[in-house]
Amino acid sequence: AYVIAQPCADVKDKSCIDECPVDCIYEGGRALYIHPEECVDCGACEPVCPVEAIYFEDDVPASLGDHRASNAAFFAEIGSPGGASALGALPHDSALVASLPLAVA
Ligand code: F3S
Ligand code: F3S
Repeated sequence: AYVIAQPCADVKDKSCIDECPVDCIYEGGRALYIHPEECVDCGACEPVCPVEAIYFEDDVPASLGDHRASNAAFFAEIGSPGGASALGALPHDSALVASLPLAVA
């Protein structure tokens, strides 16, 4: 699956959502998350993110932290809803994203 990493936090551009054919990019409080089992690896989301937050799971730079686990952890309590648009924005974040310092404007 593809993974949304740290650069998305507090940016949430959402261009990626429009590209996903299976509606598997979910909105959390501070970032968006790709469902690891619903993503079909089409890759369409990756080039449109203006802050280059999206990586194939094996290509996430280690310096950004374990965002593969972070994306999966976001879905621990909601399972596989089968579509993000019907759900809307959810108030929670993964522990990793929640722990990121707030960007100073
Ligand atoms: Fe985030 Fe980039 Fe999508 S900032 S919402 S991953 S387009
Ligand atoms: Fe969707 Fe991106 Fe996966 S467009 S199917 S989340 S690679």
